[in-house]
Amino acid sequence: MAPGPISIIRSTDVVRVVHSPADASLAADRLRPNGPVVMVPTMGALHDGHVSLIQRAHSLGASVVVSIFVNPLQFGDKADLAKYPSDIDRDLAACRDANVDLVWAPSVDHMYPSGFATRVTVSGVSEPYEGRHRPGHFDGVATVVTKLFSVIRPDVAVFGAKDFQQVAVIKRLAIDLGLPVTIDVAPTVRDHDGLALSSRNVRLDPLARTQALAIPRSLRAASSAWQSGVRGRGELEAIVTAELVDLDVDYVAVVDPSTLSERTNDTGSVVVLIAATVGDVRLIDNVVLG
Ligand code: PAJ
Repeated sequence: MAPGPISIIRSTDVVRVVHSPADASLAADRLRPNGPVVMVPTMGALHDGHVSLIQRAHSLGASVVVSIFVNPLQFGDKADLAKYPSDIDRDLAACRDANVDLVWAPSVDHMYPSGFATRVTVSGVSEPYEGRHRPGHFDGVATVVTKLFSVIRPDVAVFGAKDFQQVAVIKRLAIDLGLPVTIDVAPTVRDHDGLALSSRNVRLDPLARTQALAIPRSLRAASSAWQSGVRGRGELEAIVTAELVDLDVDYVAVVDPSTLSERTNDTGSVVVLIAATVGDVRLIDNVVLG
């Protein structure tokens, strides 16, 4: 049967936007004959970190699909959800400038229609760190990503290394559910002063912005210590924590990058994970050493 017309709710010369899952699915199917479809899931408020993912997606496939959806299921704190920045017109302009082939911007009702009762839980890797400090967060991420993948059915999906634990959760999810998608990871994009770009940075006032620089400074201190031969978990954690004295730290952890578990000896590479609040803005960052 020939595919029916796609109802495109908003359209410009160069970026196509669909809203309902049915339209998104059909529009993605129409891209498939051109070659691999690469998806970049986002919550909007797009910055250069997101744009780097889109550029990477272009290098990996023929068509790039960006989803923009502020997912209520992954916000335990409803005040955090209410404060999350959003500017769809600016995001669409950024997608157009980055030559995105299709934007899927569903509503909450599209994603979670009345009676929605399913949760995807990835145990193990989702439990410590972000999982412990934001209960339910990774269930929300895993549930929405499963739905995004099942509607678009991308060949590849690109995620940022900035959300290190999120990548570990999504890789586990894709393996465990046999999802036919390759998870690709893009490096963290930083501002000129080293602060990792984040949609939340717009909420930092000038003082908090300066205080937040302790985070990249602490990661640089860990890298230099590693380069001069420091390998002990306790020593590395102490070096990082010493730089973060003025921040409200949720955790500093030096763990195995593939399992996120504490190392039992001092061999192999590590990832340093940090979560800290500055003013009322919670920031996360990490660096892989070795
Ligand atoms: P969001 O925070 O909008 O991030 C979308 C993607 O951009 C994620 O893969 C994230 O790791 C990546 N990203 C954010 N800041 C980055 C930076 N400075 N450099 C490189 N990549 C960066 O992460 C989410 O949305 C959501 O949890 C989502 C996966 C979309 C599910 O709702």
